Amino acid sequence: MSSENQISEQSVNQAVSDALALIASAVDLDSLRAVRSAAIGESSAIAKLNAALATTANDQKAAAGKLVGQARAQLNQAFSSAEEQFYAVAAAAKLAAEAVDMSAVINTIPVGGRHPLSLLQDEISDVFVGMGWQIAEGPELESEWFNFDALNFDADHPARAMQDTFFVEPASAHLVLRTHTSPVQIRSMLERELPIYVLCPGRVFRTDELDATHTPVFHQVEGLAIDKGLTMADLKGTLEHFAKIMFGEEAKIRLRPSFFPFTEPSAELDVWHPGAKGGARWVEWGGCGMVNPNVLLACGIDPEVHSGFAFGMGIERTLMFRNDVKDMRDMVEGDVRFTQHFGMVL
Ligand code: PHE
Repeated sequence: MSSENQISEQSVNQAVSDALALIASAVDLDSLRAVRSAAIGESSAIAKLNAALATTANDQKAAAGKLVGQARAQLNQAFSSAEEQFYAVAAAAKLAAEAVDMSAVINTIPVGGRHPLSLLQDEISDVFVGMGWQIAEGPELESEWFNFDALNFDADHPARAMQDTFFVEPASAHLVLRTHTSPVQIRSMLERELPIYVLCPGRVFRTDELDATHTPVFHQVEGLAIDKGLTMADLKGTLEHFAKIMFGEEAKIRLRPSFFPFTEPSAELDVWHPGAKGGARWVEWGGCGMVNPNVLLACGIDPEVHSGFAFGMGIERTLMFRNDVKDMRDMVEGDVRFTQHFGMVL
């Protein structure tokens, strides 16, 4: 047995201070584990001294055992407290690295929103559905007959040229992009049972250039009621109710004599807009009238028994003066900031 393995106060103190130095040299968990064997493990000086107990003389065993045992306890203690410390540091670093800032603004991707025109169209439909009316639809690519002839437009009636029509080739097919929603009146009368109360919102087309007040593609909403004994008072009452829901209790309407081939008498419809920017005023809103008996006849309805009224207005125009939209182009450009303005971003 070599002398350094002799158990003495000095050799034990030496083993302890060497091991403590090793432990102290570790800078993290990995380097601490690397010195484990040399500091307190099998190849450590203290392990060798411990092994030397076996050959220590019996009368010195108790004192030597105590010396070595206390040293081992001290070293194990030093090692585990260093280990604990490094664990804590590593855990803190890990937590810091994985920290989630709950106050951060999440990066939401705006998906768009319902267009104010669609919302207004729905709002208008709700008014009439609430009165028991039905929603009717027709094609945007319409036959000339539905768009003009059945509506009592003469072949060379100047009224046909009143609306700037997109005729669709070949001319022999007599197809047009519908210039108004009135052809849906004809389709409704031909397809439905009497009495008829229908509202027809939809897209219409005219050969206008896009500018602040015109767009070649826009929307109209058409109303048609056919029943026994309907008069102009019913037309007025219906429009008055509609106006109040759209523009407030103080809203009212007025009719000015006008002309449409499919209504007789015909009128221009104005609405008193109490909330107009710059003060309450009359605004032109649309056209209306009693359904022309010629139109009823063309649809197989006896004008001696049934009568009806119809009205139509532009949805873009309604949105413009109701919500003070200055430029029509804002409605067609699809910029979500326009939609946001109406609070309907999804
Ligand atoms: N269709 C007409 C237009 O576009 C409006 C209207 C509808 C007039 C119904 C009277 C009755 O100008």
